[in-house]
Amino acid sequence: MTHDADELERLYAYPATERPWVRTNFVSTLDGGAAGADGKSGSLGGETDTTVFALLRSLADVIVVGAGTARDEGYAHYAVDADLRARLGLSPVPVMAVVSRRLDIPEPLLVPDNLVVTSATTDPARLAALRGSVEVLALGDGEIDWPGVLAEFADRGWTRILCEGGPSLHGELIAQDLVDELCLTIAPILTAGAAPRIAHGTHGTDRRMELAHSIEADGGLLTRWVRDRG
Ligand SMILES: NC(=O)c1ccc[n+]([C@@H]2O[C@H](COP(=O)([O-])OP(=O)(O)OC[C@H]3O[C@@H](n4cnc5c(N)ncnc54)[C@H](OP(=O)(O)O)[C@@H]3O)[C@@H](O)[C@H]2O)c1
Repeated sequence: MTHDADELERLYAYPATERPWVRTNFVSTLDGGAAGADGKSGSLGGETDTTVFALLRSLADVIVVGAGTARDEGYAHYAVDADLRARLGLSPVPVMAVVSRRLDIPEPLLVPDNLVVTSATTDPARLAALRGSVEVLALGDGEIDWPGVLAEFADRGWTRILCEGGPSLHGELIAQDLVDELCLTIAPILTAGAAPRIAHGTHGTDRRMELAHSIEADGGLLTRWVRDRG
């Protein structure tokens, strides 16, 4: 089944909210693997997943990614749909916010337009060194203060939040009930092995989600789930 660009834009439009809306985007195999045999997630998605992945970036004010994913998946520079962003009144490019405790950030991401998110109790020397090349948001004592981070995003007018993972960061946001929406591609693949799931953490929880849409594409499914807070 094919879906044109307008339809995908309508299906993935952010709701009009004044508070930050946290969307997460993941791909999973049929047996729950968040990475394929190569240890990466990029090989799991088909053509439509790739299109939607790019669309979600183009619709976001800020892309939040764990440093582990940025390192494993080789995050660097990225392109977005400039026409779409101009039409929607968005800034020319979304901000890339890399989340890290140890402040081990891939070199290509150390540019002034990006952001590093960490706790206020991280290594002060590393923090000072990093601040020479990139803006650092250091909030929280020991652990990152996520409500504080989202409040800071809201102050900057960033309400369209896209989190691209990975599973540790996703687990933390789920634990704090900060995930409003999950865009999940289910790839028609069985991977077995020791692949991680799309979220993990120290404590289990049950956050009920409602299906917003399901699209058949490339032999798999592109689904969108919204947090049911009712
Ligand atoms: N299937 C998918 O859609 C998908 C999406 C993304 C990633 N993945 C896969 O997931 C794997 C990586 O998993 P992962 O769990 O290591 O990813 P991750 O959450 O991106 O990385 C963990 C690292 O990110 C930082 N981090 C995450 N949460 C943090 C928090 N609350 N506070 C401070 N720092 C935090 C830490 O970085 P420091 O070590 O720098 O302190 C931590 O070691 C890779 O195989 C990747 O391909 C799959």
